[in-house]
This record gives sequence, C-alpha cells and structure tokens, in this order.
Amino acid sequence: MNSPAMQGLQLNTPDFVKHPRLIAWVADMAALCKPAAIHWCDGSQEEYQALCQQLVDAGTFTKLNPAKRPNSFLACSDPSDVARVEDRTYICSARKEDAGPTNNWMEPAEMRATLGPLFDGCMAGRTMYVVPFSMGPLGSHIAHIGIEISDSAYVAVNQRIMTRMGRAVYDVLGVDGAFVPCMHTVGAPLAAGQADVKWPCNKTKYIVHFPETREIWSYGSGYGGNALLGKKCFALRIASTMGRDQGWLAEHMLILGVTNPQGKKYHVAAAFPSACGKTNFSMLVPPEGFAGWKVTTIGDDIAWVKPHSDGKLYAINPEAGYFGVAPGTNYHTNPNCMASLGHDVIFTNVALTDDGDVWWEGMEKDTGTTPDHLIDWQGKDWTPQIARETGAKAAHPNSRFTVAAGNNPALDPAWDDAAGVPIDAFIFGGRRSTTVPLVTEARNWVEGVYMAATMGSETTAAAVGQQGVVRRDPFAMLPFTGYNVSDYFQHWLNMGNKLSAAGAKLPAIYCVNWFRKGADGKFVWPGYGENMRVLKWMIDRLEGTAKGTETGFGVSPTYGEITWDGLDFTPAQFDTVTSLDKADWKQEIALHTELFTQLAYHLPAELAATKVALEQRLAA
Ligand code: GTP
Ligand code: SPV
Ligand code: MN
Repeated sequence: MNSPAMQGLQLNTPDFVKHPRLIAWVADMAALCKPAAIHWCDGSQEEYQALCQQLVDAGTFTKLNPAKRPNSFLACSDPSDVARVEDRTYICSARKEDAGPTNNWMEPAEMRATLGPLFDGCMAGRTMYVVPFSMGPLGSHIAHIGIEISDSAYVAVNQRIMTRMGRAVYDVLGVDGAFVPCMHTVGAPLAAGQADVKWPCNKTKYIVHFPETREIWSYGSGYGGNALLGKKCFALRIASTMGRDQGWLAEHMLILGVTNPQGKKYHVAAAFPSACGKTNFSMLVPPEGFAGWKVTTIGDDIAWVKPHSDGKLYAINPEAGYFGVAPGTNYHTNPNCMASLGHDVIFTNVALTDDGDVWWEGMEKDTGTTPDHLIDWQGKDWTPQIARETGAKAAHPNSRFTVAAGNNPALDPAWDDAAGVPIDAFIFGGRRSTTVPLVTEARNWVEGVYMAATMGSETTAAAVGQQGVVRRDPFAMLPFTGYNVSDYFQHWLNMGNKLSAAGAKLPAIYCVNWFRKGADGKFVWPGYGENMRVLKWMIDRLEGTAKGTETGFGVSPTYGEITWDGLDFTPAQFDTVTSLDKADWKQEIALHTELFTQLAYHLPAELAATKVALEQRLAA
C-alpha cells in the first residue's frame, strides 16, 4: 500500500486491521505528514509500558517514586501549551449560520487550504501513532469509534486511559465500519539530526471540526482537549451534531447515581462549566448526618443522553477515564478522587516533591504543612518563601491527572452498561460570586432550558484567556457546541416536546450555584460533600416531600427543608446564598437580553417569551 509520496516509509499495517478505507486514509495521512515511522497501537499493557518508558527517555515523563505512586508519571508541558485554546477552535460547517455566532468559523475549503501546508511534512523525524478508540462500551449500539492519528506518544498513552483503546476496536470496525478520523500533530517536525524538546508544540494552533464530513484536524498543541481528540472534539463538538441529526444529546455533564437509605436509586446529570466542580460532584461523599446515603460515579465530564422506548432519557459516559483538575483536590474536598490517584496515573503540570511524588496547591489542607522544597511545573525550584514573594504556583492552575475510571472507589456498577442509566434530573450550575441562588427548580422543561441557555459563569484556567470574568456559557457548552447554539436550544425543546407528547414524565431541571461569596470575598456555601444537602432536597422534590417556595426565578428550598445535621449554617448565611437581589437581577436580565440579541437567528420564540415572563415576575 506504499504510495510513492511515502518515500520508502513502510505502512506496516498489522494483520488485525482489515479495513481498506481506513488503511488508505492512514497511507494518505502518512504521505501528507511524512513521519519517520508508523506505529499502529494495539492498546496492550506492554505497549503502554514501552511508550511510557520512551516518554521517560525523551524527558517528557518523570517516573514517580514507585513506593509512593506505583506506575505513575509526571509530564510538564511547554508553558505556552497549558489549556484549551478557544480562540483557535473552529467549526467549519458549509454555512456560517450553522456554526452560529458563538463559534469561530471558516469556509471549509479555505480551512483545508490553510491546514494543507501546515500538515505537509509536520511529522518529519517523528513516529506517527495510529490510535483506535471507542467512545462508549466496545461494540455497543450507542458507542462511536474514532481513529486518532497523532505524532505524540503522550496522546497515545493518555488515550489508552481516557477511552477504550486498542485492537478490539478493529474487530468492531470490521472491513467497512464507520469511524471519525481525528488528525493530530504537535506541529514540530524535526530536521535530520535535530534534537527534540521535552514538550514539542507550535505557536500556531488550529483545533478544527468539519461537522458535515465528521472530521477533526488539530494542529500545534499537545495539551488536554486540544490533543485528546476523543473528548471535547469528538464526544462533544462532533457528537452534538450527530445528536442533532439523530435525536439525542451530547452534553458537558457528569452523571451520578444517588441511593437513599431505603435503597431507592436516582440518577442525575449535571452540567457545570470547565473547572466548576463536575469531577467533585460526581464523586461526592455524603457528610455526617447522611448515614445510608451513597453517591456513585457514572461519568465526570461528558454524557451522551438518548431517549428510549420507555419514554425515559438514558445517559452513558462515553469516556473510560478522568482528565481532572488537580489543584484544590484533597481528602477534604474529594476523598474518592484522592483514593483514585494512588497508582497508574499520568499527572500533567503539577509539582514534583523531593521524594519523587507529586504535589499541588490544596494538598497542604491534608497534611497541615506545605513542603519546604518542590520542583514546580516549569522545572524551577519552589519554596513557600518564593511563593510568598513572587506568587508562583507550584502546580499550574489547570494542571490535571489522567486516571482510569476503574481506579475510582465510588464507581457505579452500571458505569460501563451500554443501556445507560435513566435520568431523573438535570442540573445546571455556573460559578457566580453574586446574583444566582444556591438552588432553584425550574417549574417546567421550557423554563429549565431557559435557565441552562442563559447560564453565566466566571471563566477559569481550563481555557487560555482572562480569568474570573462572567460570560454566558449556555448549558456549560459554549466552547463545545458543534453547531448553532440557537438550534441547539431548539433541539432541547424538541426533545422535551417529543417525550411529553409520548406521555413521558420529563426529568426535573435545577439551577445551582455553589460559588456565592460574602462581603469578605469568601465562599459562603461550604460546597463539596456538603452539596449533598442540596442534592437531597432535589430528591425530596422528586419524591414530593419538599414543597419549596416560589421565588420568581423558580422554586427554591426554605431553610427548614434542608437537612442541616452536622453542619452549622445559620438562616442568615442561608439568606446570603439564596436571596434574589432586585438590582443584581435587573443587570442579569439585561445580560440575558444581550445574549438573545446575539443569538437572534433561530432563537426559539419560547425562550424569548420565558424571558419576558421572568422579567415581569422579578419586577413584581
Ligand atoms: P473540567 O474537567 O474542566 O470540565 O472541570 P470539572 O467541572 O470537572 O471541575 P472540577 O470538579 O475538577 O472542579 C475544579 C475546581 O472547582 C477546583 O478549583 C475546585 O476546588 C472547585 N470546586 C469544586 N466543587 C466545589 C464546590 O462545591 N465549592 C467550591 N467553592 N469550589 C468547588
Ligand atoms: C474542560 O476544559 O472542560 C476539560 C478539560 O474537561 S479538557 O479535556 O482539556 O478540555
Ligand atoms: Mn470538561
């Protein structure tokens, strides 16, 4: 199958790949990218170990002390490549309107003409990895397959944790199965004899999606969602367009199971923007006073939600691992997560301790002390004194761990179930220091869609750019909706209409905010495990045992409806996190108006009408 353009490079297709179109595509991409070698990943443990060792030899990985953190590694990226690059992310639909006003767009032919020269020879001197993966259980009718071609071994080993990766994917694909082609390069070709750097990348970056042809092309970054293409690029941006066309939803949501002391189980899917608490909530440990309650994790970042013939919505987690935020994670905030990180973890951009373990800001709360000396994520000496003097963080604020779901002690037994779990409630929550109350239930589906559509949140380190500024983040999907966001709202409304027309009881919808701050600038709500108190109120609402009170925005709990056992939280504090301030809401509604003006094309009329009604209720 060698084309002349491959200049003698052997394709070396393994016998387990029997898909002529796939093989031809790999040959074409090899001809374009001109790698020095091709490695077809089989997903075996031996391959994983060998690639990790290769990354250690290249200086990309530091092997952690096996007595402290068995089979675990630390990677530190180039300081210019630490988060998703939203301003370099494109939805190249044929028509600009189909990308919508919230996505960057370029005409597909123009984008292809831009990418062509960049990809030409981009893998010179490097190995091209062919990484087969399934989003969702292998062979399940709800799963979809991707093949990522990448010149990064870091990507290959991360994909083995984050997805079902390996040769079994080819068995499912057979000779003509469908797959999403995912092209990735760090964009750093090596000239003959040129020494490599430990984290190759390029100043120029393009994260490109062609929704009509279901292709992904990523150039110049090796980090997270820019490079692990199964995640945001495939499971959200491409999958959301598949869901629009096929009648399902691809969402930036955790999925959890919550079981009450009587053994009754509910399932909840919750959308919070990046670095706003999904991983934490999905692994919640109920506090003192909640004996017999149990929370189990189905997923921590992405949900694919599909209507079934019983009229219910079922959700699956298409991923197989967690790429979670390290800073702030400790035994107080997320004990299950800490327990997950004991072995077989890849850490990225955290600090290295003198005894070969990892450290990040927040861990001092467990030990009561901060280490005297660390190597920070940029490879520099770090001491508490340097931190005081310069403000230097030992770990990058968007530093992450990659770990298999199987490491999570709170993993739900149904996490891998192809049928998914039936969803009883959706939660939407932003990071808002003011305005938005702790918890509000929408009175109906349309009002819930409105709450999600108009959600605002303060920006975080998960994306490059200014932090802490409130922006609208509809459904926590602003950077992830692969099509026009007004059409996406319509799709949600259509799903509700279809299900209720069939006589189904729709999931309840809640809006939450863990992040209200007091006059002292500190979070008032204790958060983390204490969020169980809010979750229980939602269950009480589903059970019909909590009446709630109408606030104008929706239905909220009275102080007396929250179970306070084991927590000292006064009615005055409760008021600080639940009150609706008239002036704040006037401003808030003005921001909804601004959003709706921006999204006027195809904006569902029900949402505009809901705004008018809300405005009137709040002014009354
Ligand atoms: P992505 O992986 O980026 O999509 O984010 P995520 O939503 O999974 O974020 P994660 O759960 O890792 O949250 C990270 C940040 O949120 C950390 O700074 C946490 O300390 C903070 N956080 C999480 N839950 C809470 C909470 O209940 N209250 C407060 N105040 N902070 C929280
Ligand atoms: C997010 O930013 O929402 C993440 C991390 O989950 S990344 O995979 O890098 O997008
Ligand atoms: Mn995310």
